Amino acid sequence: MSETPEPSPVPGETTPHRRRPRYAGKYPRRFDEKYKEHNPQRYGETVAKVLASGKTPAGSHRPIMVAEILERLAPQPGGVAMDCTLGYGGHAREILPRLQPGGRLLGLDADPIELPKTEARLRALGFGPETFTAHRSNFAGLAQVLAAAGLPGADCILADLGVSSMQLDDPARGFSAKSDGPLDMRMNPQRGQPAAAFLEKVRPDAFAALLAENADEPYAPLLAPALAGRVFASTKALATAIRAVLPRLNRSDLDLSVRRVFQALRIAVNDEFSALETFLRHLPACLKPGGRVAVLSFHSGEDRRVKKAFDAGLRDGLYADIAHELIRPSPAERRDNPRSTPAKLRWARKAAA
Ligand SMILES: C[S@@+](CC[C@H](N)C(=O)[O-])C[C@H]1O[C@@H](n2cnc3c(N)ncnc32)[C@H](O)[C@@H]1O
Repeated sequence: MSETPEPSPVPGETTPHRRRPRYAGKYPRRFDEKYKEHNPQRYGETVAKVLASGKTPAGSHRPIMVAEILERLAPQPGGVAMDCTLGYGGHAREILPRLQPGGRLLGLDADPIELPKTEARLRALGFGPETFTAHRSNFAGLAQVLAAAGLPGADCILADLGVSSMQLDDPARGFSAKSDGPLDMRMNPQRGQPAAAFLEKVRPDAFAALLAENADEPYAPLLAPALAGRVFASTKALATAIRAVLPRLNRSDLDLSVRRVFQALRIAVNDEFSALETFLRHLPACLKPGGRVAVLSFHSGEDRRVKKAFDAGLRDGLYADIAHELIRPSPAERRDNPRSTPAKLRWARKAAA
């Protein structure tokens, strides 16, 4: 066990002396022990090193394809933007200055734990309530959020689907097999049932279908009867059970299956596809004439739905133009931020009046 006192405060600061958290070894390993990464204002150098190594500092999120999204959304001074998946606010903090003077951004997120932190972070960057408002809402309700704000429509709308790194990396949220935690996976832990309760109740045939639909899991017929109806107290317990069903797979194929089962469960627990379909249905009515939308998706189940909705909108004359090709992160971005690798960007532009 090693322990060193926290560095003395910056001259002029009156922070009381506190000892840093205890951890085994030279460097903190657990999410909650990485106190420097959780405090980028104070420990910028450590955070820069983590970023340079291609990792995401604990408690933060690296926005993906920022330049490509800004180019497609083209936010303008005086415009209204909706970031329907505010997350850490990485995209929002780039869009917001481009709306000034006179514009505003509505940031939506289902997560009641991270949303207030992001709101505070954006306020600290100087975005007051006249330019930025935070809304704890599922993006399926984007039309209601717009109406409650008294706005007829938005000039640009962004959805960056899935989970944030803050959610994924925090063991207490139970999204990942990488560290042990309760098998929860809810973006809003105040609603619905945790993944453990879902798994305990789901029937094997329904679970097999869900593994195939939500994650293209090739071993769904083997995994579903072995996992459905069982009680798993933790993420690690579920990961161990998945590995036990597929003993002949090599390590990297096993890791992929673990990831896919976790993804399929997360999508089910948060009812992600039905939220996405509702969002896509309401989109054209929420955009002003000529307004633009960009959607970043991370697996085929999401991208299929976005493509289908944009194709249908173009055919029906709701959209004047859509992305005809998928836009992927550059090789440099994939190298810098491996979490960007599966990202797929599509955009659409609403017909003018
Ligand atoms: C990939 S992160 C977004 C990161 C963000 N673009 C950034 O740069 O920091 C996805 C976020 O969307 C939220 N989310 C996912 N599904 C949602 C839904 N149906 N309604 C509202 N928020 C949702 C998650 O809670 C998470 O914070």
